[in-house]
Amino acid sequence: MRVLFVTSEMAGLYKTGGLGDVSRSLPIALRKLRVNVSVAMPYYKAIELKTVHCVGQIAVTFDGKRELVFVFESTIPNSQVPLYLFRHPKLDDYHGDDIVSKFAFFSCCIARLYEFSPQVLGGKLDIVHCHDWHTALVPLLLGESNKLRREQETLESIRTKTILTIHNLLYQGSAPVSLLKTLNLPKRIFHVLPTKKGPRIKLFREGLEHADVISTVSPTYAKEILTGDYGQHINEVLHRRRGDVVGILNGIDGTIWDPRDDKSLPVHYGKNDVLSGKQANKEYLQRTLKLPIAKMPLIGFVGRLEVRQKGINILIAALGHLLPDSAQVIILGTGSKKIKQTLAAFAKKYPDHFVFVPTFDERLARRIYAGADILVVPSKFEPCGLTQMIAMRYGTIPIVRKTGGLADTVVDGKTGFVFEQYSGTALRKKLKEAINLWNTNPNKWSRMAVTCMRQNFSWAVSAKKYKALYARLYKR
Ligand code: GLC
Repeated sequence: MRVLFVTSEMAGLYKTGGLGDVSRSLPIALRKLRVNVSVAMPYYKAIELKTVHCVGQIAVTFDGKRELVFVFESTIPNSQVPLYLFRHPKLDDYHGDDIVSKFAFFSCCIARLYEFSPQVLGGKLDIVHCHDWHTALVPLLLGESNKLRREQETLESIRTKTILTIHNLLYQGSAPVSLLKTLNLPKRIFHVLPTKKGPRIKLFREGLEHADVISTVSPTYAKEILTGDYGQHINEVLHRRRGDVVGILNGIDGTIWDPRDDKSLPVHYGKNDVLSGKQANKEYLQRTLKLPIAKMPLIGFVGRLEVRQKGINILIAALGHLLPDSAQVIILGTGSKKIKQTLAAFAKKYPDHFVFVPTFDERLARRIYAGADILVVPSKFEPCGLTQMIAMRYGTIPIVRKTGGLADTVVDGKTGFVFEQYSGTALRKKLKEAINLWNTNPNKWSRMAVTCMRQNFSWAVSAKKYKALYARLYKR
């Protein structure tokens, strides 16, 4: 069984978010389970790889022109997993004016290559595993060509199966219908949606119609997206196809996230010396961020300061009531100008209790995972979430909202604090409960930290489930 992972990003080469981590770790974990998997992604100019060689070229018709695309082969760094990179000027940068058309083009490259020169990818594929809206067009494109081939009654026609994994339904790859002309595909096979910006299509929605299996990154999110609130206006198709929707929790790579030998940490620690280790990291963080070494809990937030998903507004509401008396707070992340101004004002008002670092800085993120007592993840929705799992591995107790992967990874009172209602008041209540425990029962607190560190969020667990899913699909 041969599997091709088709993705827009990969940690270490080019990463914009959690999908990048999954695209790197999951194929490696699958390979360890002897799944024959390779990965395809655009060859952005920013990607630096030492050993790459060209294995073929294809001509892709796009917007009425024949575009020549070069395919390069390498391996995912520090692994044996083959990596295919697609080079073309349209794929030089991830961002750009027309990101939707860019990834539609990349999807055309995959379909074209698959159909006409599969030997470039090492031979015919049994399963094509796509991720998010960026590559959601692939199942439709393969499906359309399968249909054609079926008419010619070839045996090859219906063999390849497709999986589309939802990492985040908020972003759907919306494009004007003119994209269909660019793709040279008939309008009747698409779902044209009336919107304020005129009639549009959404690549994600098309993928959800055509993929053989729809998966997402936690069991709870798999249930949530069938409902109105979380379905982001395309839950109708998800609901109709609910029998094909599965949720498999992501993992974290224990070799990358390990407080025993994390190069960014001033002091390393494990389960046996978590108390002293965390205290040393906390003091280092306080000193370097110019906070007094106060005896109060240190609360961290690491992530995009995104109102629609990450709950930053309820966090601001809750902190407004808690500061400055009960805790010190560090917020690391980028966001809109308005949010940044609000947080900068907090920092000015409470210089001894509040630090805001408006960048993405992985080294500091790691120091926060290690040095904070509490990591807060107040997301409105969270398909899986990575930071709560990393925090737990670093013995930092998470406070999360009961949604998606947060609900599936944190147990209230055992491995963290979980609140349900999406409001500043509910979050404030949980924060107070946590702060109170920290102040009154340090023994219980450290037992909880060790329980957190004992949780097994390894990719091996998830990879086994994907392997079983591939096998089921293969037999279908
Ligand atoms: C997206 C989601 C996040 C998930 C990640 C990887 O970034 O927002 O919850 O952990 O994808 O699947």
